[in-house]
Amino acid sequence: MALFATMEQVTGQEFRLRSFRLRGDRMTKAQSEALSAHWNRFEIPLQGIINPKELFPSLNPKEVVFEIGSGMGEATSQIAANNPDTGYVAVEVHRPGIGALIIRAENLGVRNLKIINGDIFEVLTKHVNDHSIDAFHIFFPDPWPKRKQHKRRLLQPSFIQILASKLKSGGRINIATDWYPYAQEIEKNFSANSEFRGGVIPRPIWRPLTKFESKGITKEHVVTDFQYVRN
Ligand SMILES: C[S@@+](CC[C@H](N)C(=O)[O-])C[C@H]1O[C@@H](n2cnc3c(N)ncnc32)[C@H](O)[C@@H]1O
Repeated sequence: MALFATMEQVTGQEFRLRSFRLRGDRMTKAQSEALSAHWNRFEIPLQGIINPKELFPSLNPKEVVFEIGSGMGEATSQIAANNPDTGYVAVEVHRPGIGALIIRAENLGVRNLKIINGDIFEVLTKHVNDHSIDAFHIFFPDPWPKRKQHKRRLLQPSFIQILASKLKSGGRINIATDWYPYAQEIEKNFSANSEFRGGVIPRPIWRPLTKFESKGITKEHVVTDFQYVRN
């Protein structure tokens, strides 16, 4: 028997490397004021089972889309404002980003958005029933470019299987990345999962061009968009 236990043995099956950077929680005054003023209207508390159908009772949305890693909320807020008959759930670990998203959503008068401050892995594995989500948006997931960091990438086979189990049949995943080696890995990992069909698509016109993406383009990063549909 090995002298030292592995991390999985110590912490149980749920041990998983973080897919996000710990960047600290320092906020601007405007972000912290936005959180104090409006968080209770946007927040989905991380307790019990989250039923997407019940999140927007006065709206009765045609579908509910979960966005993984909404960052500073630029795309999230614009997409929600442009599609008022769809419900959006932004999942983000970084609180200053959530403050920024709330400022943008308030400025645009968005009413079809809820936010979860948490790790998507925990959200999906503990708080969402199987086959209950219509679609996921995953825009510019952290690329973890160094070889020894690749295991921190979000879109690895085990997480793709979790996405498959949470989507309804016919549910969609839209992904964009400006890191070509990650794009190649995403394509390989989805092709290996028989529950999905799809692949590279032209840039969807509904996906706003954000500052983050523009910066990548000026560095001559090629942006790849994907759409996968759950069988
Ligand atoms: C590179 S940023 C992109 C943000 C945004 N989608 C955009 O296009 O500007 C990736 C974001 O995903 C978030 N993130 C990474 N792993 C996450 C996880 N497991 N759960 C929730 N958010 C996560 C990070 O905190 C970060 O804000």
